[in-house]
Amino acid sequence: MASARLALHREFTVGPVPPRLFGSFVEHMGRCVYTGIFEPGHPTADEDGLRGDVLGLVRDIGPTVVRYPGGNFVSGYRWEDGVGPVEQRPRRLDRAWHSVESNRFGLGEFARWAERAGVEPMLALNLGTRGVQEACDLLEYANHPGGTELSDLRRAHGREEPFGVRLWCLGNELDGPWQVGHKTAYEYGRLAAETARAMRKIDASVELVACGSSNSGMATFGEWERIVLEEAYDQVDHISAHAYYRQRDGDLPSYLASAVDTDRMIEAVVATADAVRARKRSRKQLTVSFDEWNVVKSSGSPPRQWEDLPHIQGDEYTVTDAVVVGTLLHSLLRHGDRVVIACQAQLVNVLGLVRTEPGGPAWAQPIALPFREVRRLATGEVLRVGGRSDRHATERHGEVDTVDAAATWDDDAGTLALFVANRDAETPAALEVALAGFPVLQPATARTLHPGGEQLQALPGVTLDDGVLRAGLPPLSWSVLQLGAAGVPTNGNGVGSRDPGHQD
Ligand code: AHR
Repeated sequence: MASARLALHREFTVGPVPPRLFGSFVEHMGRCVYTGIFEPGHPTADEDGLRGDVLGLVRDIGPTVVRYPGGNFVSGYRWEDGVGPVEQRPRRLDRAWHSVESNRFGLGEFARWAERAGVEPMLALNLGTRGVQEACDLLEYANHPGGTELSDLRRAHGREEPFGVRLWCLGNELDGPWQVGHKTAYEYGRLAAETARAMRKIDASVELVACGSSNSGMATFGEWERIVLEEAYDQVDHISAHAYYRQRDGDLPSYLASAVDTDRMIEAVVATADAVRARKRSRKQLTVSFDEWNVVKSSGSPPRQWEDLPHIQGDEYTVTDAVVVGTLLHSLLRHGDRVVIACQAQLVNVLGLVRTEPGGPAWAQPIALPFREVRRLATGEVLRVGGRSDRHATERHGEVDTVDAAATWDDDAGTLALFVANRDAETPAALEVALAGFPVLQPATARTLHPGGEQLQALPGVTLDDGVLRAGLPPLSWSVLQLGAAGVPTNGNGVGSRDPGHQD
């Protein structure tokens, strides 16, 4: 049996839980938009063709911010194609996904969907085939109140009030040779800086994300960020990071430890941004927008034929994938002082939290379970997790902690949330967590997800004695333990406390 002895102290905090850490992503790719969130004629669709069953699941899972419209798609996209009378919108070739784009869904439809889903929109700009002027045109159309050609065009299109979009991505993955309009770091850095400068003259309140690397394995990783930020540091607010993890060559231990790469990637991006800051003697600290992350099963190759609704990456996830997703959320939380935006990619069908059948049902995938739990229970301040876990060897990441954890403390609610994974697929792990500085706590809920069951189940045998929380973690599992200040009712999930004394 593996073991981990961790420690939490109320005063040892990373910082407030960033609300935008629980974002997702809707791209015009495969069936994410069409027959995903949008399907006129579906039995649950509203008057705008937005699927009510999907909206219901999305509200339940609870993403706070949703990035749109790509992804690779955006790097060849003309935003004007997606606004105005639907019958006049052009059909175009989408070079990113070798698909035919009908443009029946565009900015106005997305804004309506975002309002109904209760999410903040985050728009990505085409800096692949387009530039400063088109970015400014879109911003003027979206955010300027009226009295100009573009803002009045929005009003003529039925949207009187500005969309008021705050978050803008300056392009997508322009470091990648696969990207339409791929650039060198210097070319992109200059373009990002000039686009940002011009956009801020139209709307000083925008928050701008510069493209970082597409993944930590890119040959240019690090150097791309350095050069881009040398050019654009003063003009942008965030630098992006993307990462997708898959099980390669049957190597389960490395797959389960994927969050080690996320930790290292975030720390490398932060270090690079801070180095540029130091050289520039800037007072501004950049933050990270981890605006694409997930686990992946299929290849994602676009179809050979030009198709309207190609099936691309309709991945079906398992509980094992959900455990990895849980640990990726730990990594984001642990770095919540510097990662302030994160978007799980994608929301529906394509690598989706949610799957749909055209004309048929919608359902949440197992990876939605940890997302929903962390989104709901991670409130207040992120805590530093001290102590140590047993370690084990992996092929891709070297020695890793067997038990991986993140925790939050909410002073107002008086609740402590501990998220914890056992990354050993063979043996259980004995967990001990020393709690200090908290008011009197009682365990309230303890649930676990492991390949023995498809849902979160009660985790039996959790105790709290003399300020030490103890639990047995099943092999290959992700668990959530919530403790409340004395008086918060327990839910009878097999949790026992013999000592509700002060933990200090
Ligand atoms: O999410 C799928 C694709 O992955 C996105 O379009 C792209 O940005 C990334 O490479």
